[in-house]
Amino acid sequence: MWPKDVGIRALEVYFPAQYVDQTELEAYNGVSAGKYTIGLGQSRMGFCNDREDINSLCLTVTHRLLERYGIEPRDIGRLEVGTETILDKSKSVKSVLMQLFEPHGCTDIEGADATNACYGGTAALFNAAAWIESSAWNGKLALVVAADNAVYSAGSARPTGGAGAIAILVGPDAPLVFDRGLRASCMRHAYDFYKPDLRSEYPVVDGKLSIQCYLSALDSCYQLYCDKVREKGLAGDDPVTLANFDAFLFHSPYCKLVQKSFARLAFVDFLNTPKERICNDERYKDAVSLHAAKLEDTYFDRDIEKVFTRLSKTDFERKTKPSLLIANQVGNMYTPSVYSGLVSLLLSKPISELAGNKIALFSYGSGFCSSMYSLTVTRDTRDGSGLSKIIAALSYVKPQLEGRHCVSPADYTRVLALREQNCHVVPFTPESNIDDMFPGTYYLTQVDEKYRRTYERV
Ligand SMILES: CC(C)(COP(=O)(O)OP(=O)(O)OC[C@H]1O[C@@H](n2cnc3c(N)ncnc32)[C@H](O)[C@@H]1OP(=O)(O)O)[C@@H](O)C(=O)NCCC(=O)NCCS
Repeated sequence: MWPKDVGIRALEVYFPAQYVDQTELEAYNGVSAGKYTIGLGQSRMGFCNDREDINSLCLTVTHRLLERYGIEPRDIGRLEVGTETILDKSKSVKSVLMQLFEPHGCTDIEGADATNACYGGTAALFNAAAWIESSAWNGKLALVVAADNAVYSAGSARPTGGAGAIAILVGPDAPLVFDRGLRASCMRHAYDFYKPDLRSEYPVVDGKLSIQCYLSALDSCYQLYCDKVREKGLAGDDPVTLANFDAFLFHSPYCKLVQKSFARLAFVDFLNTPKERICNDERYKDAVSLHAAKLEDTYFDRDIEKVFTRLSKTDFERKTKPSLLIANQVGNMYTPSVYSGLVSLLLSKPISELAGNKIALFSYGSGFCSSMYSLTVTRDTRDGSGLSKIIAALSYVKPQLEGRHCVSPADYTRVLALREQNCHVVPFTPESNIDDMFPGTYYLTQVDEKYRRTYERV
């Protein structure tokens, strides 16, 4: 017997209290107006000053989730962190988080860190679900923490940074249930984005290759996911298409790529439709000649992108755009990105419209690892139900997004320069003010001469 309805029982998101405005950044960087805001689809970018690091981000989001939901440390049997922000080549961030559990006598907690670019959070989430369905399960809940500080060296990638953290509580009888056996992965070796220089926080990026890898992974995962739905007989005789989903969430390096990705899935649906049906479908009357295209030749095909962006616009606005609130306002948070999409979606419509929804998620981490899977939302929307509790608990998100303070591009650039300068300096005492941080935020107080870090909480 499997435990029933294994899935997500609680969600907490954290983003730093300061951001840089992308319109101001366009002017400061001397690029044409609209390049970041329209071309990339980004409005604001959150970032960490020298008071925050990967340990503090994870401490903040974990402590806040436990507090907000009244979860006791003894309720947690597994804790795992997904991140690509590496401060230490040996000691896991998970072990740092044990500071929240040890004082309560709780040390019997499995799990360590999972790393592969933006995919680590999904790897950790799959491990958590597998633990609950395994013989090792002790009846407790699993906590998955995904967090990153996403920074790029000066240049074209810099506006696609961001920073933040998500904590996801996993257990049985959840309101957001993982669909059993419906997962598809595509894992390959590629040098599209990687961090070989351990002295630097910045990645080495081949921007164009990263887009191609992302889209090719998306194609593979979607085709395979649809095959699995058909194999399980879940779609009857009908083809599996975007119409099977109420919401489609993507890892979001920048929002424009997500819109292009949604259009791409509409194109895959089109290619999977028999030619005679295409010819008889009024919607496709200008697109028939594209039916001969081969997916792998079309990653940067402007005509296909244009036609299918237009054809899928209404569906995109209904099924995906509502999930881009945090991505647009904070930027690419790396591992938490696709889960920030889930938070945004839950905040976007009345609970009655979420009931019973089928939500697809596409997680991509350069290098590369990618998976697509789905969740089904409970139909129980009564007051006090698990779903209504999650939505009520997230009511702080929009006010907190608005409650952040705007930092000028010049100051933002100075903060990044300071981080570069102090990356491996010890002993180190951060200088940034803590007055503007949100209540409950952990901050770095010191790194001693033996690289040991200490934190306090606002
Ligand atoms: C994504 C990335 C490659 C873009 O950098 P870039 O090459 O300088 O950007 P581009 O010149 O392609 O411009 C980006 C978009 O803005 C558009 N644009 C440029 N100026 C514009 C303006 N003034 N108004 C409106 N749009 C504009 C471009 O046409 C382009 O749109 P397109 O993607 O539809 O072609 C870069 O930010 C990067 O490397 N990011 C990190 C890696 C990443 O996020 N990869 C994604 C997959 S994981």
